[in-house]
Amino acid sequence: MSHYRIAVIPGDGIGQEVIPEGIKMVEAAAKPFDVTFEWVEFDWSCERYHREGAMMPEDGIEQLAKFDAIYLGAVGYPGVPDHVSLWGLLLPIRRQFDQYVSLRPVRLFDGIACPLAHKEPGDIDFYVVRENVEGEYSAIGGIQFEGTEREIVTQQNIFTRTGTDRILKYAFELAMKREKKHVTSATKSNGIYHSMPYWDKRFANMANHYPEIQTDQYHIDILTANFVLKPEHFDVVVGSNLFGDILSDLGPACTGTIAIAPSANINPERQFPSMFEPVHGSAPDIAGLGIANPIGAIWSAAMMVQHLGHDDIHDVMMGAVESTLKAGKALTKDMGGNANMQEMMAELMAHMPS
Ligand code: NAD
Ligand code: IPM
Ligand code: MN
Repeated sequence: MSHYRIAVIPGDGIGQEVIPEGIKMVEAAAKPFDVTFEWVEFDWSCERYHREGAMMPEDGIEQLAKFDAIYLGAVGYPGVPDHVSLWGLLLPIRRQFDQYVSLRPVRLFDGIACPLAHKEPGDIDFYVVRENVEGEYSAIGGIQFEGTEREIVTQQNIFTRTGTDRILKYAFELAMKREKKHVTSATKSNGIYHSMPYWDKRFANMANHYPEIQTDQYHIDILTANFVLKPEHFDVVVGSNLFGDILSDLGPACTGTIAIAPSANINPERQFPSMFEPVHGSAPDIAGLGIANPIGAIWSAAMMVQHLGHDDIHDVMMGAVESTLKAGKALTKDMGGNANMQEMMAELMAHMPS
């Protein structure tokens, strides 16, 4: 019998709606197996910020450290500036637990109308491997002469050798396990003088260790164009924190909706808990309407159980997602249907093995 303790942070907006559905799917899928879960909920959010002046308690990170994994909805809501809410909760978790890999699969499912012409399931099936703790995301810099015509703002990017090499290595190791064995590097070394030429150099160095892997690199501008024009080209795409963020919304948009996209914030050495969350945000425009697509949260939960060692439960969950989408009966609005979240959940549950 395996038992796991999961810290649950539904967070803001539709995070609070989709996370309970992800938990229901895990519980239903885990039933035939010898596995139990304890879900411990934390109400850390913008609501807490308004009430108590902080997104999470001072010892929040310490509290989370004891769990086997963290399952998070979304952070950020109008009323609290985004950089305050995100640097008060989501980003410190990624950083303190050294979750330096953000693994974001992109897949076109059977049954979903692809916005790109002439693309079939199988044509879009790749991973974005995003550096998750350094790069362009930094709080280093500041403002001088504030409030005057002479205002100067600086923002520091951080690229360490350790940080760059370990994310590149993760991408190459992932590609080694895949059929195409192909890694694409996202860069911008024509315009960004120091960090991106450095990234290219470390990429070329890492590629030398993997002669079986085919590699290429694109500047981020033409890379976004190629996501749209020839998504079938890609297998594993590795990028810095900001480039990976952008590519991991664009990729899923090319498969019909960003709302199904999952992400795993992984600490591969397992010194700290990893965190699983949909790629999408709190969607204030539809929060409270009960029409959110729960699949991003469900697929993220499936990645979480897989990370904990249970491919079997993962496969049951993803089987239900695949057959529900293929049946195409209860799709939410973002996918062109008119089902609400509960109608889609009923369909997903009906596609679980009894
Ligand atoms: P968003 O992902 O919340 O929404 C973008 C669009 O996609 C909206 O029209 C929304 O309705 C739609 N959408 C998103 N998820 C959906 C779902 N599950 N079902 C159906 N439609 C869905 O992005 P945004 O508007 O840029 O951000 C809103 C807030 O969320 C901001 O505060 C932002 O900082 C935050 N955010 C948080 C995370 C996170 O916690 N990981 C990720 C992205 C954005
Ligand atoms: C994501 C989100 C976050 C990020 C924001 C909310 C800070 O967009 O998880 O993709 O940029 O990492
Ligand atoms: Mn994002």
